[in-house]
Amino acid sequence: MSFNKDIPYDTLPDLPPKANLETADIFKLTIQANKLLAELKGYCQTLPNPNLLLNTIILQESKESSAIENIVTTQDELYKASLNVTDRIKNPAAKEVIQYREAMYWGLEQIKKTELITTNLLVGIMQKLRDTDDNIRKNPGTKLANPSTQAVVYTPPEGDTIIRQKLAELEKFINDDTYSDLDPLIKMALIHYQFEAIHPFSDGNGRTGRILNVLYLINKNLLSLPVLYLSRYIIQNKPDYYKLLREVTEQNNWDAWVKFVLQGVGETAAMTLSKINAILNLKNESIPLIKDALKASYSKELVDLLYSYPYIKTAILEANNIAKRQTAADYLKKIEKTGLLHSVKLGKEVYYINHNLMKVLSE
Ligand SMILES: Nc1ncnc2c1ncn2[C@@H]1O[C@H](COP(=O)(O)OP(=O)(O)OP(=O)(O)O)[C@@H](O)[C@H]1O
Ligand SMILES: [Mg+2]
Repeated sequence: MSFNKDIPYDTLPDLPPKANLETADIFKLTIQANKLLAELKGYCQTLPNPNLLLNTIILQESKESSAIENIVTTQDELYKASLNVTDRIKNPAAKEVIQYREAMYWGLEQIKKTELITTNLLVGIMQKLRDTDDNIRKNPGTKLANPSTQAVVYTPPEGDTIIRQKLAELEKFINDDTYSDLDPLIKMALIHYQFEAIHPFSDGNGRTGRILNVLYLINKNLLSLPVLYLSRYIIQNKPDYYKLLREVTEQNNWDAWVKFVLQGVGETAAMTLSKINAILNLKNESIPLIKDALKASYSKELVDLLYSYPYIKTAILEANNIAKRQTAADYLKKIEKTGLLHSVKLGKEVYYINHNLMKVLSE
């Protein structure tokens, strides 16, 4: 049975696809993407404190990914919200971003334990990022429409049984490498399409699929930290992204899809590398200034914190055992005098903004 955009695509074929993916062009792109990704991975492993990057990079990735849904939030609101470890976050847009980050961290913890990517894991990620106990779609009627014209372009498989069956097949393809000896990066491209085409949830499929990409790379040991900013590439190339997904379904055009993803991995790895470099440079340049301002109270841990949060406040220093409240406040005031931080008072809280870090992140 062939594809009809208005009828649930219950005959969606399982992976691997019937297509020649061993062409010279794909081979070239695969090598290039792997090379850049390996460089990124290696670079992260040489860092004295890789956790330094996690907060900033994942926060940014979360923001990019959530923006696909047009949950636009300002950097200011976002960074403020990200500091509120205990308070309830009121701004709904910032809340979505923070939830995305939580879902990513949760997924990471799970795969560290099990080394498997399962249907349950994907359901858990979707539940965390949407803050819901919704599960796999049970009701008919989900259709994907062109965002500008609202015309239906795709109707995913329908019914919990079929969806679970397709996910079970996908799960095997993800975890059992005897299914195909294609390069893991090519597999990631196939998996991303397949997951989106199954479209198992009533919402959050795009975001779950993007988290899945990163978790897959970590599971295959191509990355050790979730520092690849792939969502930015996807959002910047959204019309192509949507068009190429459709072309796989309608024309079995896997070739263009796989190339698009490989290109994205390479570009993104290169971009992430330069961003990490820029953050480390900023940090290193700031060290003499901070030493001078804090004298004997200077600590490496404090500098690491300053470059983990574009916004910082005394409570974060306290929570990280740098100093008690009064002393922490004093440190931040002294650092502000060097020009590295700028304070703003919002309600009862004083936030210190690291403008240089903000700039690198949003570039
Ligand atoms: N023609 C298509 N075939 C398969 N999947 C598609 C198609 N068009 C879009 N998609 C996928 O559907 C996702 C949107 O689904 P959904 O709204 O459930 O996810 P989301 O996470 O809420 O949204 P978003 O991805 O926009 O942030 C897109 O990100 C894309 O991955
Ligand atoms: Mg949605």
